[in-house]
Amino acid sequence: MLNSVETLVQTAVAARERARAPFSHFKVGAAVEDEDGHIYTGCNIENATYGLTMCAERVAVFKAILDGANRLTRIAVVTAAKELTPPCGACRQILWEFCGDAELILASVDGLRETVTVKQLFPRPFDATFL
Ligand code: THU
Repeated sequence: MLNSVETLVQTAVAARERARAPFSHFKVGAAVEDEDGHIYTGCNIENATYGLTMCAERVAVFKAILDGANRLTRIAVVTAAKELTPPCGACRQILWEFCGDAELILASVDGLRETVTVKQLFPRPFDATFL
């Protein structure tokens, strides 16, 4: 059974609570859903070198793969920013390669919502088809 958009967003909101963001103070939560309705969550995890930071989206996708997810079809990303937060470039690459042209729900803890597709944000991707 697939989940409602609000369920997916609220799952990402809960994951965001686990964010480790002592340097940026910018907490992000993500929830990825597979075609069977299983949800895998992620939060951003920073460290003292800054550069080794891992974004919430990638944590969620990698957890999904580890846990044996089927085709990933939807992703919700939540922050507390006033403006909806789109995934960074590195995450767009990973989302394209592991979720294809999935639905991407950008959300804020204050109730803003916007649904786009990965392709809209990443229109001319490099991927394995070039290799
Ligand atoms: N961040 C994410 O987790 N996802 C994004 O798509 C944008 C940025 C994190 C990385 C870092 O911990 C903090 O937000 C500020 O860049």
